Amino acid sequence: MARLIDGKCLAAALRADVRRQVAAADFTPGLAVVLVGEDPASSVYVRTKDRAAREAGIDSRTIRLPAVTTQDTLLAIIADLNADVAIDGILVQLPLPRSVDLRVVIEAIDPMKDVDGFHPLNVGYLADGRPNLVPCTPLGVMKMLLHAGVNIAGARALVLGRSAIVGKPMASLLMAADATVTIAHSKTLDLAGECRRADILIAAIGRPEMVTADWIKPGATVIDVGINRLPDGRLVGDIAFESTAARAGAITPVPGGVGPMTVACLLENTLTAASIRRAGT
Ligand code: GUN
Repeated sequence: MARLIDGKCLAAALRADVRRQVAAADFTPGLAVVLVGEDPASSVYVRTKDRAAREAGIDSRTIRLPAVTTQDTLLAIIADLNADVAIDGILVQLPLPRSVDLRVVIEAIDPMKDVDGFHPLNVGYLADGRPNLVPCTPLGVMKMLLHAGVNIAGARALVLGRSAIVGKPMASLLMAADATVTIAHSKTLDLAGECRRADILIAAIGRPEMVTADWIKPGATVIDVGINRLPDGRLVGDIAFESTAARAGAITPVPGGVGPMTVACLLENTLTAASIRRAGT
């Protein structure tokens, strides 16, 4: 039976660590979370992030905008937040309504306040092997691997999914840690075969329980980034947990795995952004 990598527990420790550092700092980090529209999952995520930030002593502000918000209005709000000296981190919750151009919005965020690490400058820094602000979910996964004592250097790592939020930055981080990295996705010819070669498998493809035990190399470390709501209301990952856990060496649960680490890393990124920016002023 696989060892459980407890993200909830690790995230609690990281959050407590951020809280201690914030308490010891001679400034209060400020975070602005922007939510456009009323996507139910996004609303939950934003509330969770806001509460966690407050608990860590971060001055958190949530800006809720109607789904009909124009791109110009959103850009004006971001410009205000960029100029606001009390704000160290700006996060625009995704997905955005189709009426706004995601790329234009992300590029409008001051890269030094981009606590999501989605700005092209931060994407470029990461790809170049000199990370600045790094996307929260892959950063959280790296912390989980390190904490679990997983050997990354030289290991075959398979990243299932090529999104800008998880898959691509995840691959960059694993490569920087000397893994041999493959990115697989919906068009990959032999997904099962690619997965079976992996010592470390990171699933971030957004398909409920798509990865089954027969895709897993015995003893592999399996990280499940997926959060999928089934019609019966159950929350499951991209991995069929029960059967896979019997074969893997270590595995993350859903919920209570990667999700809490994403939130904790957002707090850490906010503190990092604040420390850098305020040291320079
Ligand atoms: N939507 C899903 N994941 C994320 C994330 O990490 N950041 C933002 N801003 N939106 C998301």
